[in-house]
Order: sequence, then structure tokens, then C-alpha cells
Amino acid sequence: MLQTYLTKAQNICKSFYEKKGNKGVAQLAVLGLGLLYLQHQIRKHNGWLKKKSVNNEHIFITGGASGIGRNMAFRFAKLGAKISIIDVNQEALQKVVDELNQTYGQKTAFGVICDVSNPTSVKAAIQQCNSFHNKKIDILINNAGVVSGKQILENSEAGISRTMNINTTAHHWTVREVLGDMINNKHGHIVTIASIAGWVGVRGLADYCASKFGAVGFDESLRFELRATKSNVKTTCICPFFINTGMFDGAKSKFPLLFPILSENYASQRIVNAILQEETVVIMPIILNAAIIVKAIFPTCIYDNMMELFGVSESMDHFKGRAQQK
Ligand SMILES: NC(=O)c1ccc[n+]([C@@H]2O[C@H](COP(=O)([O-])OP(=O)(O)OC[C@H]3O[C@@H](n4cnc5c(N)ncnc54)[C@H](O)[C@@H]3O)[C@@H](O)[C@H]2O)c1
Repeated sequence: MLQTYLTKAQNICKSFYEKKGNKGVAQLAVLGLGLLYLQHQIRKHNGWLKKKSVNNEHIFITGGASGIGRNMAFRFAKLGAKISIIDVNQEALQKVVDELNQTYGQKTAFGVICDVSNPTSVKAAIQQCNSFHNKKIDILINNAGVVSGKQILENSEAGISRTMNINTTAHHWTVREVLGDMINNKHGHIVTIASIAGWVGVRGLADYCASKFGAVGFDESLRFELRATKSNVKTTCICPFFINTGMFDGAKSKFPLLFPILSENYASQRIVNAILQEETVVIMPIILNAAIIVKAIFPTCIYDNMMELFGVSESMDHFKGRAQQK
């Protein structure tokens, strides 16, 4: 049934293209964007779509001591979830765990100092979290991330490896620890916090973009592995533009009305909704889907010029980042 509709839709697009050429492609792109926008509005004002309950679910967040990870931890704790956080920032981790326990009751949250790029530490941390909450992980959020903001020749070998290990390779270490149980229990959700930099290359972000393209690819491959076995385990891949957490301080949007720098609160709420509604891929803000559509259907020179025109390629020129801001 679905296959018939898909084939019909493809045939309509094909004949439209044959009749109208590139103009038809542009019209289809506009139609696609319109549909995406409609879907976004429905989800944004939610209520229309069912949200799952996370009451008593064990939610494990990497890099949850600050930024959107921390913000999401509070939102999920409010919904009754048990929170585990791993992070390398001991002071911030202790603070967030204490605050969560004070606000939502003792034993709501548990934290372990752990470097996600070390598979042995990840394994031990997950075991500690499972025994603290006396429950296996239900939702894994791979959120820990770093950015160097350096051009290819300025970056160091250690810096490049660090970005790749934390932003991409670490996803294997956490997922390999939890996926087997999730599949056996026919219940679970794996969330990848990637970036729009996982779809679009940016000057000064080669290591970061490579790592986020990797994270997007990891999520997609995982999704297809799960689909092949008709698994109940869900996946969600989040691809935001800049968020004002401090990680990308100094980065600029040339047209902020069109491409706004997202607030930490808005981004976190949108991600939590996406998880509760089990969305598969979320590009935010939605307008950035246009870049992906243009890249997919137009010649590279058009795409490159568009990225330069909209200032995407110069967005990192004044990057300071969190480390240098004090
Ligand atoms: N801020 C943005 O503009 C933006 C945009 C798109 C995507 N993202 C992604 O969102 C995620 C969260 O970013 P944020 O803005 O909240 O940044 P953030 O710096 O506030 O949070 C990242 C957290 O990860 C932790 N961390 C770093 N290395 C780690 C390691 N090796 N092991 C464990 N924890 C580690 C940090 O201590 C920090 O608490 C990242 O993956 C980032 O790439 C951020």
C-alpha cells in the first residue's frame, strides 16, 4: 500500500521534472520546504502528536554537566525520569547532580566522571549508573562534544584526534554497551546530538564537520540496522545550528532573522520534544533544510555560492569558543 503511494509520488515528481526541467526542481524544493514547515509547526505546537512517557525511565546523558545536556537533564527529571550523567568536568557535574537531587528528590540523578573517548571508562560508568538506578538505560543521549575552531593547517594532531574521538568514535563505545539489552528488552532509544555541521561543511570547522558528518552517518547506519530486524529500538538524530551555550562563542550568523542563533532553552525543549515524539532526524532551525535540498539537487557551484552569499562559510571567522572567553 505504502509502496504504491511512494511509486505514484515518484512518478508524479518524474513527469513534473521532465516537463519543467530545473524550474520544476526548484518548485519541488519549495513544495518540500512547505511540507517540512507544516510538519514543524504541528510538532512545535505539539499536543497534536503523541508524546511517550519517560516517567521512571533511565536516561543517560553524556556531557550533561553543562549546556543543552544539563538543560535536558532538568527537563527529563521534571517528567519523572531517572538521570545519569557522565562528564569530564568534575565540578560542574557535581553541581548539576546536587541541584537535580535537591529539586526532584534524592536518587533522581547520578553522575560519574568519565571521558567518553575511553571505552573502558565508558563501560565502567554505565555499569555504575545501572546499579545506582537499579535499571538498565532506556534512553541514551550521546551529547558530549568539543570544538577546536581551527583551520586544517593550524590544528594539531592531538586536537584533530580529540575531536574525532569525542564527537564520533565515542558513540560506538556507549551504543555498544547498551544496544544489546535494548534489543533484547524490545525497548530503548538512542539519541545522537550531531549538528547542521554534519550536513554542511564550514571554513574553520574541518575536524568538527568531519566528526559530525560521522555522527550523522553513525545514526543513519544504526537506524538501518534496527529497521532490518524490525527492532522496537528508536533513534533520533539532532542537527542544530549555533546555540548560545558558550561552546561556539564568537561565531556569527550573517542573517540572524533567517538563521537565528538558537537559545539553549529553545534548543533543549525542541530536542526533548523530538525524543518524546520519537522523531528520526531534526534539522533546526527548519529553514536549514533548504541548504540540504539545494546541495542534493543543484550543481556544486550553485550550492557553494549560496553558502558564501548567506555567510555560512564566514560564520567561524570571529570564533572565540568557551576556553578563550574568560
Ligand atoms: N552550542 C552549539 O552551537 C552547538 C550546535 C550544534 C551542535 N552542538 C552539539 O551539542 C552538544 C552539546 O553542546 P553544548 O553547546 O551544550 O556544549 P557544552 O560545552 O556546554 O557541553 C558539552 C559537554 O561535554 C562535556 N565533554 C567534553 N568532552 C568530554 C569527554 N571527553 N567526555 C565526557 N564529557 C565531555 C563538557 O565537559 C561539557 O559539559 C555537542 O555535541 C555539540 O557538538 C552544539
